Amino acid sequence: MINLAPYTPTNAGMLSQAAWRVGNNSLSGYLGGKQHGGYFCEQLERIIEEKLKVRHAIVVNSATTGLLAACAVAGCVPGSMVHSTAYTMSGTAAPAGLLGAKFQWNDIEDKTFNMDGVISLKKGDIVIATSIFGHPANLHQLRNQSDLCGAIMIEDAAQSIMAMELGRYAGTVGHMGILSFNVHKHIHGGEGGAVLTNDDGFAYLLREFRNHGELSHGSFGLNLRMTEITAAIISEQFVKVENYVASRRELAEFFNECFKPYSDQVSIPHVRETCTHSYYVYALKFKDRKKITPLLRKHGIPIYDGYVNPLYNLPAFKSRTIVSTKCPVLERVDKELAFIEICGINPIQAQRIQIREVIDEVLGSNQNERKILPVREKDTSEGQGAI
Ligand SMILES: Cc1ncc(COP(=O)(O)O)c(C=O)c1O
Repeated sequence: MINLAPYTPTNAGMLSQAAWRVGNNSLSGYLGGKQHGGYFCEQLERIIEEKLKVRHAIVVNSATTGLLAACAVAGCVPGSMVHSTAYTMSGTAAPAGLLGAKFQWNDIEDKTFNMDGVISLKKGDIVIATSIFGHPANLHQLRNQSDLCGAIMIEDAAQSIMAMELGRYAGTVGHMGILSFNVHKHIHGGEGGAVLTNDDGFAYLLREFRNHGELSHGSFGLNLRMTEITAAIISEQFVKVENYVASRRELAEFFNECFKPYSDQVSIPHVRETCTHSYYVYALKFKDRKKITPLLRKHGIPIYDGYVNPLYNLPAFKSRTIVSTKCPVLERVDKELAFIEICGINPIQAQRIQIREVIDEVLGSNQNERKILPVREKDTSEGQGAI
């Protein structure tokens, strides 16, 4: 049984250094985010803008609240039509639901698991393009369509920090885009998020929404501010974000090498030619999942069957769903897909050798009817739900 080391972008040294800096910085010494952020919030915003080559980064206390702000300033009101994938975490679409939107769920691509790039839009609609598992959605295509039709495109790049399509980072192609810094992500501050935009008008409205709408004297807002300590912790990591993402890409490459010999049984993650992948999750498709993944799990490989219950099946979304919604590709893919949470594990060399041996035994024996390793009795983890 392999007992895998966890992936930890934060460590005790980093946390105490960040706390010390906040406490000792004469410009701050203040834990809350001021109207437009304290010193460390503003510092983090400048780091993000520089790294992701985007005009404005507005840090907030989660990706979900960032999506709420983006939907609100995009004009989402009761009855607004929102186009999204149903194969995503509920946080992608819940903010629009809260604002009263109706949903048109679009089917997904068989290879990247992202929303299909051709959708039917009209003026005033909102598109939420999620780059799922770390692979960019059809970002440029959706942005072009949105501009042609007078729709607003919001990117949910919570899982895809530093992933690129056509040389631009996920989160920076739409009118607005969001990142997540929750505890599962490539880099994190426990919680946290950012909204990205190249549009000065949206940036102004987002900053107002984050701060009770207090200065705009015209619109409602909430307190979505990030705390200084969170911003300091995330800044420590964001300056080295390329290294964190590179380490996940390297781990994905290791798994690619392990699974490639068994292409008759399993498809490794597809990366479109115009894209780079940031591998939040390493998602595989199996020809006969039920025969393989229970054995991998029994030997300690943390692989989970399926991703999420499509959002149109969740009670909160049902009554808001446009009746014509049908997603046959999604329904099929979810029966074939299994994923390894790349941002949750950090196998050391000896464990990598064990992982490779287990994969060879399980998939090799299925191929050659060889004898497999003795297994533990209990199969622990069927589907772990939304991450
Ligand atoms: C695709 C997606 N969108 C939104 C969220 C919500 O992020 P947060 O927890 O920062 O609100 C997540 C969280 O895992 C996510 O995976």
